[in-house]
Amino acid sequence: KGILVPSPSSSSSPSVILTQDELKKIAAYKAVEYVESGMVLGLGTGSTAKHAVDRIGELLRQGKLKNIVGIPTSKKTHEQAVSLGIPLSDLDSHPVLDLAIDGADEVDPYLNLVKGRGGSLLREKMVEGACKKFVVIVDETKLVEYLGGSGLAMPVEIIPFCWKFTAQRLQDLFEDSGCVAKLRTFGEKGEPFVTDNGNYIVDLYFKKDIGDLKIASDAILRLAGVVEHGMFLDMATTVIIAGELGVAVKNK
Ligand code: 5RP
Repeated sequence: KGILVPSPSSSSSPSVILTQDELKKIAAYKAVEYVESGMVLGLGTGSTAKHAVDRIGELLRQGKLKNIVGIPTSKKTHEQAVSLGIPLSDLDSHPVLDLAIDGADEVDPYLNLVKGRGGSLLREKMVEGACKKFVVIVDETKLVEYLGGSGLAMPVEIIPFCWKFTAQRLQDLFEDSGCVAKLRTFGEKGEPFVTDNGNYIVDLYFKKDIGDLKIASDAILRLAGVVEHGMFLDMATTVIIAGELGVAVKNK
């Protein structure tokens, strides 16, 4: 899908069509400008964060960044970072991070997020919750009026034991919002998707606004069987949005 953006070279020259992936890359490169030598960095997961991790690897290789320690938010990002030679550690050794960079599935006007359509929400929430600064990188298609407003999934990580019971209880919680809860599966046989932590994901789909997000968050987390949900409330400190009019930076 292409999005029309003004050409950076001159206001009179013809506009260029950039793909969604090119916009993701623009946002990612902008975020990496926040990275300084010596930082402990949270490395996000997904197609947007992948560009940021690639760029950090490139700057390290060129010697433009030094003494970076990365904390990956998934096994996939761990593999990518290893392949790029980025030195890695974990939260046990580095409980406070300088900065994390990651994508998001939805961003509301208050910079609350939905994350986890890539399945890594638990580690993302642990790592990004431990950061002094959390920079979110998105293309403009991720902007919503309210969380759940895209009509796409709001993921919840649950334990596999009696998953149908937990999925039903999640659906019942949001009955008034027309919630449908579906186990995330993959492949022709519909095998359950298993997270890096050995858990399942139930995706919640809403027909209406779920109202107060803090109340919704607390209600989900009170259910036994739930490990974590994909609402990242009041966590992003900066959101970088690449889109039709160029790059916008929103700070909390
Ligand atoms: C993974 C995530 C991703 O950040 C989110 O799904 C956005 O992915 P992408 O950059 O590929 O659009 O939360 O768990």
